[in-house]
Amino acid sequence: IDPTLDLFAEIEKLKKEKNAIILAHYYQEPDIQDIADYIGDSLGLSQEAAKTDAEVIVFAGVHFMAETAKILSPAKKVLLPDVKAGCSLADSCPPHLFKKFKEKYPDHLVITYVNCTAELKALSDIVCTSTNAVQIVESLPKDQKIIFGPDRNLGAYVAKKTGRDLVLWNGACMVHEIFSQEKITKLKERHPNAKFIAHPECEEPVLRMADYIGSTTGLLKYAIANPATEFIVATESGIIHQMEKACPDKTFIPAPPNNSCACNDCPYMKRNTLEKLYLCLKNGYPEVTVPEHIIEKARKPIQRMLDISA
Ligand code: 13P
Ligand code: SF4
Repeated sequence: IDPTLDLFAEIEKLKKEKNAIILAHYYQEPDIQDIADYIGDSLGLSQEAAKTDAEVIVFAGVHFMAETAKILSPAKKVLLPDVKAGCSLADSCPPHLFKKFKEKYPDHLVITYVNCTAELKALSDIVCTSTNAVQIVESLPKDQKIIFGPDRNLGAYVAKKTGRDLVLWNGACMVHEIFSQEKITKLKERHPNAKFIAHPECEEPVLRMADYIGSTTGLLKYAIANPATEFIVATESGIIHQMEKACPDKTFIPAPPNNSCACNDCPYMKRNTLEKLYLCLKNGYPEVTVPEHIIEKARKPIQRMLDISA
């Protein structure tokens, strides 16, 4: 790429030329968030993907999110700036193993967290996101037996909140499992007025310390509405960009990871860059496709989620 190129202007131009929309998750780098047409959490992004009338969706997020957009809008071209933008949580649940697991519980309904492959969604009855997981479980009869996967931390949180006994798949997100309970305790001592806010993909001992638990949109809304001026944030660091934009007078401190070499960046989300976004829009590649038979099966559980969350 010519280093003198104004990527923001070029992307705007290409977007019009190709009738494209840019959807970005809160974990994307700030430049991508700033050029996006819509920024949101997993639920907001799938709702947006379902209703857009653009011909091309550039999904600045990870592979499973682009797949979900393709399932909801199969006639559209869905582009992902870096095709290797995967997800450790989705990887922790290979569909062939989950299929065997599911067979052990034939009378159970399967709820899968949207952070999984399209193939896994095709094996599910209802999909959920971190925003609506509790609501979706509560929408089912009390005696309904449920398998919840792939995130064991979100599953345990939902089980606790709803008082239901869920059969959990043992998967997790590498970013949300790095937070150190001990370091958070020390940080809270140094910032006694700070609110500690956490994503439900974090482990239970970390969640127990939280003043508020919610999806990325939930955390952002809480930070805006709460009168506190300091927040310790236990989720991927990308969300802090929106928090700082919305609340320039408040301070947001990333929750400390247990290893001082680590950071709270998702290595998959951060594979996307403004340069790669420009190139994918220009070249129409890499494109994310989903086989027809998977689209057919995976669409129902996603639609069921959207209907319950509407
Ligand atoms: P939400 O977008 O639902 O907050 O989920 C966070 C996440 O891990 C996305 O990869
Ligand atoms: Fe996957 Fe975790 Fe990255 Fe989200 S933050 S994309 S769940 S690895």
